[in-house]
Amino acid sequence: MLRDADAQFWNRAARKYAADPIADLAGYERTLARTRGLLRSSDIVMELGCGTGTTALKLAPFISRIVATDVSSEMIAVAREKALAQACPNAEFAVAPAGRAAGADSSCDAVLAFNLLHLVADRPAMLQDVHRLLKPDGLFIIKTPCLSEMNPLIRVAVPVMRLIGKAPFVAFFSAAELENEIAGAGFTIVERARHGSGRKDARIFIVARKQRAAAA
Ligand SMILES: C[S@@+](CC[C@H](N)C(=O)[O-])C[C@H]1O[C@@H](n2cnc3c(N)ncnc32)[C@H](O)[C@@H]1O
Repeated sequence: MLRDADAQFWNRAARKYAADPIADLAGYERTLARTRGLLRSSDIVMELGCGTGTTALKLAPFISRIVATDVSSEMIAVAREKALAQACPNAEFAVAPAGRAAGADSSCDAVLAFNLLHLVADRPAMLQDVHRLLKPDGLFIIKTPCLSEMNPLIRVAVPVMRLIGKAPFVAFFSAAELENEIAGAGFTIVERARHGSGRKDARIFIVARKQRAAAA
């Protein structure tokens, strides 16, 4: 379930998010390069929680089409401005919460979600929707911080910050717990790596393939 307060939090953050430099550039470049290596020029891709569209716009020249979505209308407004400025015709941006994408069943070769899963309250619904969107053998490519593996003080700090509107919803899980959830939703984990380059950054990168339905 998504609270209005969370969408508003991200709306307020959007212009600053767009202006700030990428916090972990080395980690970002690693994720971008690996993701690009997994995609083909014919691919139809959906990105969830795309923020201001940086990644979608960087990947668009190498694939057929990308539809990038985000719960925040302000993030999407910035992404559309950037797409216009960069004259990027095969990147489309839409406002949508993860778990309720407008795409047709089995329409995507890959679904991407970077730095998003820890912000989604109903991960089972999101995973079900990603499974629905993907073609058989399609790839779900994610990167996320695993807050259970980070400083335990975060568990104390987040509720306080939420009370004063300084933090959105965040979920606590370990990489192993997340992998189990993804596998349980009908995916095979085909690749795992750590893409956070900071010493305390437990950010995991996972590639999961949608399993084919068993023959009757
Ligand atoms: C930390 S930013 C990451 C943006 C981008 N993926 C990146 O890696 O730079 C998280 C993004 O997820 C969006 N978001 C948060 N909760 C969401 C939800 N439930 N569904 C869709 N997007 C969400 C926010 O609006 C924000 O743009």
